[in-house]
Amino acid sequence: MAIDFQDNMILLTRKYLKRKIMCPETKFRHHVKERLHILELLKRTVEMGESNSALLIGPRGSGKTTLINSVLKELSSMKNFKDNTLIVNLHGLVHTDDRLALKDATRQMQLENVVGDKVFGTFAENLTFLLECLKSGDKKHSKPVIFILDEFDLFCEHHNQTLLYNLFDIAQSAQAPICVIGMTCRLDVIELLEKRVKSRFSHRQIFLFPGDTSSSEQPTSAFNDRLELFQHLLSLPDDENVNRIEQQYDDCTIDPQFGSVWNDYIKTLVSNATMINLLKRMYQIDISERSFRNFLAVVVSTLSEKHQRLEVSDFVEASKMFSQDDKVIMLEGLSVLEMCLIIAMKHETDIYEGEPFNFDAIYDRYIKFANQNSSIQTVQKPVIMKAFEHIKNLEFLLPASGTNSTVEKEYQYYKFLLTSQQVMEAVKNYSGLPTEISQWALTNME
Ligand SMILES: Nc1ncnc2c1ncn2[C@@H]1O[C@H](COP(=O)(O)OP(=O)(O)O)[C@@H](O)[C@H]1O
Ligand SMILES: [Mg+2]
Repeated sequence: MAIDFQDNMILLTRKYLKRKIMCPETKFRHHVKERLHILELLKRTVEMGESNSALLIGPRGSGKTTLINSVLKELSSMKNFKDNTLIVNLHGLVHTDDRLALKDATRQMQLENVVGDKVFGTFAENLTFLLECLKSGDKKHSKPVIFILDEFDLFCEHHNQTLLYNLFDIAQSAQAPICVIGMTCRLDVIELLEKRVKSRFSHRQIFLFPGDTSSSEQPTSAFNDRLELFQHLLSLPDDENVNRIEQQYDDCTIDPQFGSVWNDYIKTLVSNATMINLLKRMYQIDISERSFRNFLAVVVSTLSEKHQRLEVSDFVEASKMFSQDDKVIMLEGLSVLEMCLIIAMKHETDIYEGEPFNFDAIYDRYIKFANQNSSIQTVQKPVIMKAFEHIKNLEFLLPASGTNSTVEKEYQYYKFLLTSQQVMEAVKNYSGLPTEISQWALTNME
C-alpha cells in the first residue's frame, strides 16, 4: 500500500509542477515601476476618459504579454472597467493589413450588426463611425476602448500606416477615450513610424529588460532571482498555501508531509554547486524565462513511478537540449557535401591561422580529399560552387575587408566565422555522416 501511495504522489507532483511551470501566469514579477506606469495609464482612460498611447518594448520572453495580462486582470475587478470598457486585441502576425485589423476590431467591439453593409469613404471615417457607436445614450460619454497591438512593429509595415495614424490621431486629439498600447521587440520602433504618425504618438516608451529587476540592486541579483524562480517552480504548495492551491488544482491534492519532504529536497538542489553552475551557464546563453520554463518542464516530465526524484544529472541531461549553440544546430541541417566544405574551411583556417580563403582553395582541398577516398563521389564544380554559396548565405562566411567585387567569384576572399569546436561538435552530432568524413575532420593536416 505504501508504495502505491508514493507512486501516486509522484504522478500528482509531476502533473502539478508541469502545470505550474507551463501555465502562463498572470502574476507578474519585477518591473514594478513599468507595470505601475501601464496600470496608471489604463486607469486614467477607464476612470477619467483620458486618451493615451504608449509602447512597451523588450526582447522576446521578457514578459510584455504577461505584464499586460496582469494589468488587465487587476483592472477587471474595477466596476467601471467590467461594465464599460472595451478591449481590442490586435496582433501583427494575424492582422497583416489594416482592413483585416479593422474588421476584427469591429467584431471585438461587437459592432458588426451596426456596421452591416455600410460603405465608407475612408478608413478614418470607418474608424470614427465605430467609435461614435460607442457613445452611450446621453451622447456625451463614449465607452473607453483599449487597443492592444502585439508585435506592433509589424503594423508599421501596413500601407501608409493608416491604422496607426488614425489611432494615434484619435488618442492625441482626445476625440474619444482610447488608450493605444503597442508591444514590440524592436528597440528602434520609433524610427519605423512615418513622420505624421510619429508626431501624433505620445512618445511614452516603457522598456522591459530581463534581469533588470530594479535599478538599485546589484547585478548578481538577476541570477539570484532565477534561482528563486527555480525553487519556486519546482516546489509543491506548503501547508499555508495548500488550501488556496487545492482550489486551483482540485484534482491535485498532494499530501502535505510528502510535499514538505519534496520541498526540502528541492532546497538542497538550489545549494548544490553543480546545479548552480549549470543554471548559471544556461542563464548566460539564454536569459529568457520562456526557455528556462521549457527546460524545467522537460526535467519534470522525467518523473515517473520508476524515477521518483529529480537528480542533478537529469537537469544536466535536459540542459543539452537547450544550451546548444544555434550555429551548431544549423550546421547539422547541411548536406554532406556542404559539411565537407565546412571541414575543408576549418582545415584551411587552422593551417593559415585564421587568414581569409577563397573558393578555389576550398575546392582544391575538397577534391584532394575526395580523390583519396574511393567511397566519396566527386561532384561537378558548379555544384560545389552552389554549396559554397549556400554556406555563404547562411552567414558562416564573411567577405574579407577590401574585397574587390570585380574579382571573379572563385577568387573572392572570405573569413570563416565558425570555430573549430563548433565544426567538431556538428560533425559529432551529424547523424549518418560517413566515417571517412568525420575522420577527415579529426586529422590535423599537413
Ligand atoms: N516578470 C515576469 N513575471 C512573471 N512571468 C514572467 C515574467 N517575465 C517572463 N515571464 C514568463 O515568461 C514567459 C514569456 O513571457 P511573455 O509575457 O510571453 O513575453 P513576451 O510577450 O515579452 O514575449 C511567460 O511564460 C511568462 O509567464
Ligand atoms: Mg508577447
